[in-house]
Amino acid sequence: MSNRCYISTPIYYINDRPHIGHVYTTLVADVIARHRRQHGDAVFFLTGTDEHAPKVAESARANGVAALAWADRHDAAFQATFAAFGISNDDFIRTSQPRHVLRVREYLTALLVSGDVYQGRYDEWYDPGQEEYVPEARAARLEYRSPISGKPLVRRQEENYFFRLSAYADDLLRLFEERPDFVQPAARRNEVIGRIREGLHDFPISRAGLDWGISVPGDEQQTVYVWIDALFNYLSTVDTPERRHLWPADVHLIAKDILWFHAVIWPAFLIALRRRPGYEWVELPRRVYTHSFWVSDGRKMGKSLGNFVDLERLERCRQLVGLDGLRYFLAKDGPIDISDRDFSEARIEGVYNAELANLFGNLVQRAASLVARYADGVVPPPGPLDADDEHLRAEADRLPERVASAFDRLALDRAADAILDFVTTANRYADTTAPWQRAKEGDHERVRTVLYHLVESARLAAWHLWPFIPETASEAHRRLLGCAPTLALGTFGALPPGTRVTVGTPLFPRLRPVTAGG
Ligand code: MSP
Repeated sequence: MSNRCYISTPIYYINDRPHIGHVYTTLVADVIARHRRQHGDAVFFLTGTDEHAPKVAESARANGVAALAWADRHDAAFQATFAAFGISNDDFIRTSQPRHVLRVREYLTALLVSGDVYQGRYDEWYDPGQEEYVPEARAARLEYRSPISGKPLVRRQEENYFFRLSAYADDLLRLFEERPDFVQPAARRNEVIGRIREGLHDFPISRAGLDWGISVPGDEQQTVYVWIDALFNYLSTVDTPERRHLWPADVHLIAKDILWFHAVIWPAFLIALRRRPGYEWVELPRRVYTHSFWVSDGRKMGKSLGNFVDLERLERCRQLVGLDGLRYFLAKDGPIDISDRDFSEARIEGVYNAELANLFGNLVQRAASLVARYADGVVPPPGPLDADDEHLRAEADRLPERVASAFDRLALDRAADAILDFVTTANRYADTTAPWQRAKEGDHERVRTVLYHLVESARLAAWHLWPFIPETASEAHRRLLGCAPTLALGTFGALPPGTRVTVGTPLFPRLRPVTAGG
């Protein structure tokens, strides 16, 4: 049976050039989306760009270009980057698109009618880098500095529309209690609950005097606050008669910098909206998964620090280990959990050599060459099984479940580990069963059994690695099975004897370690 599954990434500010952070979250979403599709789920994978930030209008003005033209130009860079990383998103939302603008105005109309959105005056603090309102009490705790950029908060006084967040504290606490998995990992959930208990304040959701953004219905002088505009993308994109059944999202993937917006403000808006006629279908998303940050040389990345992992640096890495090598490294070794991870070329080389070249690549190469050499390049039928074969099969049978359970927890590192463990088992099986030795002894039936098990293990590992390394895993299937890694091939035994195997060049050629001074 096919389950539907809606996965989103944050929508990214287009005033920046894409960098490792944007690529990472989108890649994690891609790996999960591919895994789910591979298991027959009807996946809807959404990413996009957040275009109405005041910064965009400012840089457009400074460059003498209209804001939308400026947005178009930067947006193209994001789309091209994601395409270059093999990202398989099903839609790409830009908040400047009419389909989004129209819906945001409808949502606000409903919330104006209910009184959840009301007119008021703001006279507290703002974090311009995060585009975030900071109430006095919290600002004082933060010593009037942004917790993300460290830059001073600015005082802001303005007339605008507010959202009645204070009315939703009980609903939110109940949500966190009833659905312990709503925010993951658990440490992030506890952070959020702690902050809700400090108190929830109403905050502005519009600004006066901006000419770039969505205007508030009934008050065209006011522009919708960029964060509210942005959060609604998750709903607006599927708010059509054809797509409404896709809601709610299964997982909003985000990083720790934007947890508050997704764990508190977003559900509060949805709870409010859901109480309005016509919006009864607007359930809460199933979970908000929060990863941590890539850092570089042990420090937070910063353009001024010169340690920024930009597209150029990623491109140099891609030239070194190939697209799949880079995808694998980022997905496997990234900050998926609550710790930040250090990015370095040495780590990429280490992971590539140890896991892709020496383990997986080696297994595929070995299996194909042994079949070429001892079975005329055709997968032989297996004969009676002995204990070595039974052991390998037991491991192979456990693999799908181990991978799936790691993916359920979004533990991509564990999923990859489970597959690589199996590859190690298969390589060891080749050593122990030594088909070259059996061939010398003339035990052809044993050779056939071992070769079948070896090729099928390599193929099965490739199948499970496909979400991480789609091109190479597909190539492995072409070589070992003569076809693409389709749905039905996720278990041991899918490979029919009689299949012609091709030996190619190594899928992941070993990198020579860089020698000192060289
Ligand atoms: N536009 C808002 C999000 C609106 S979502 C409704 C925004 N955009 S952003 O361009 O700043 O992207 C923030 C996101 O980029 C993070 O949540 C994370 O997904 C990713 N990353 C940015 N820097 C990162 C790292 N150094 N490491 C890992 N991912 C990070 O906030």
